Order: sequence, then C-alpha cells, then structure tokens
Amino acid sequence: MNMSFLADIQEGFWFPKAASSFADRVDFLYFAILWICVIFFVPIVAAMIYFTYKYRQRPGYKGNTEALHNNTLEVTWTVIPTLIVVWIFWEGAAGYLEMSRVPDDTLDINVYAQKWNWSFKYKENGGESNILYVPVNQNVKLIMQSKDVLHSFFVPAFRAKRDVVPGRYTYMWFRPTVEGVYDLFCTEYCGDSHSNMVTKVHVVSEEKYKLQLAELVKEPEDIIERGKWFYQRKACMSCHHAGDLGAKGPGPNYNGSWGKPVKLADGQEVIFDEQYVLNSIRNPSSQKRAGYENASAMPAYSKSDLKDEQVDAIIAFIQSLKDEKP
Ligand code: CUA
Repeated sequence: MNMSFLADIQEGFWFPKAASSFADRVDFLYFAILWICVIFFVPIVAAMIYFTYKYRQRPGYKGNTEALHNNTLEVTWTVIPTLIVVWIFWEGAAGYLEMSRVPDDTLDINVYAQKWNWSFKYKENGGESNILYVPVNQNVKLIMQSKDVLHSFFVPAFRAKRDVVPGRYTYMWFRPTVEGVYDLFCTEYCGDSHSNMVTKVHVVSEEKYKLQLAELVKEPEDIIERGKWFYQRKACMSCHHAGDLGAKGPGPNYNGSWGKPVKLADGQEVIFDEQYVLNSIRNPSSQKRAGYENASAMPAYSKSDLKDEQVDAIIAFIQSLKDEKP
C-alpha cells in the first residue's frame, strides 16, 4: 500500500517534506480521505444542481409528491459508506498504535518544555541543547516533561505530535529517514509568546551526531562567555534581551541594567547587583519589578536547575553588558 508517489505529487501544497517512517502511512490515509470526499462530493453536488433545475417549479408542471422506496438503493448507500468509514477507522487506529508503541531499540532524549523554550538533554553524555539533534535512520524516543503549563511537541515533517503535560511524563518516538533541518513547533497555546516557542530539528548522520554531542558538553573557559552560554541554554533568552540576542520581552532587558537602581512593584528601590540577580533567579516573584506586575511569572530556578557557579557566570555576563544600549 505504498502510495508515496501520490504523496510526492501533492507534497508541498498539503504537507511539508516527509522525513520520518510515519510519513507514508499518515499521508496515504490523509490523501485517501481527501479523494474519497472529492469522489462523493462532486457527483452529489452536480446531481443536486441538475435535479433542482430539472424539477423546478414552473407553470403547468406537476411533480409527484409520493415518496418512493427502493431497497437496493437503501442497502447500497448504507453498506458502502459503512465499509469505507470502518476502513478509515481501522487505518487510523493502526497508525495511532504504531506511533504509541515505542520500540525497544531506541536512542533516548529528555525533552523539557517551559514558557517559551524547548531544551533537550542527551542520555549518552548529559549534553544539553535548544536545537534537537537526532541521527538519521535510528529510532528516537523522547521522554517529555513540562516545567509549567501544557505544551505540545510537533514536527510536521515527521508527522509526529504529542502533548507535554506538567506533572507527568509523556513519551513519543519516531525514526527520521531524511537528513536535513526541520521545524519544531509548540502546537498548544501556552501564553504570550507561544508563537515564539519554535526551534529546529537537525537530522544528521551517525558520525555528525557523535561530534555534535561532544560539542554540546564543551563549556567555554571564559566566565563571561560561559554566562552567555548558560543564558542561551537555560531559557533566559526566551524572555530577556541581552546584547543582540534573545526575545525583547516579556522579561526585562539585560543591556545597560547592571549597577542601576531598580524600582520594585511594592515601591521599594534596590540596586541591580549580584544579590538582586541571584534573588531574581532563585525566587523571581519576591522582588517583582514595577511595570512587570502583569508579565507572565518567571519560573524559579533551584540549585539543581542552575548551580551557584552558573549563576556567577550569568552575573558576569550581565555585568559585561552594563554599557550596552537598552
Ligand atoms: Cu508552549 Cu505553546
């Protein structure tokens, strides 16, 4: 039942490039349903238009008001559509089960979703990234957690999608079949910057994957560079602008902030120093800034999320931006 030639023709209009082992099955069922609809819709509507014209009300015309019964017709238009919808259900359920049953020989990657950032942790060496790297032609299992609200992991090219739910693990798997770079979306509305919760999946050769993983665990030596490195990897950049990096909101800008007075929502004023940064990371809601009362609350980072040494590096990074224009 390989209909991928049909998918090739229609791809690009209905679907992005197909890049996983699920794609053939999903696309085949989608196009089967599409064409079944076309095959029924066109003749039915054409006949309807023709009959409304043919049996229209006009002077001297008298239609037959008796309802007619025809057993053969009744049975035909009951049995055929029933068989079709049962087949559609069967194909859909079988495809869903294939996606739900994770095979044994998988490469496992932890996925953390939070407002508004994806991060991935690789079991092989503990490396972390915001871009998902996977080797081609291998079964990949994702073990997914949300740190705050409901998100949903979606890679259209893989035809793979699953919710990421706070307070529980969800799993999904896929086997990428074509090397390349594909879009990865959050596909569940999760607040202000939901539409920015996007990243990429890089499907690479086994060799490149190994090199990439080794690259991920190399922290820069310089403390400012290291701070920038954590800023990019620990989701700070999804809300705070720094240098020319990161989103411009909803969180305050790092540029030109160091050493300046900060007005708090309760009317107090504090200095933007080491203590203020540490407190803002460990217990963000305790010193809410004036003007940010209605911004989405930043999640608190415990010592296991961000070690004290890593906070020091981020402080050094923010400090290095003190003369930047906000
Ligand atoms: Cu996360 Cu939408």
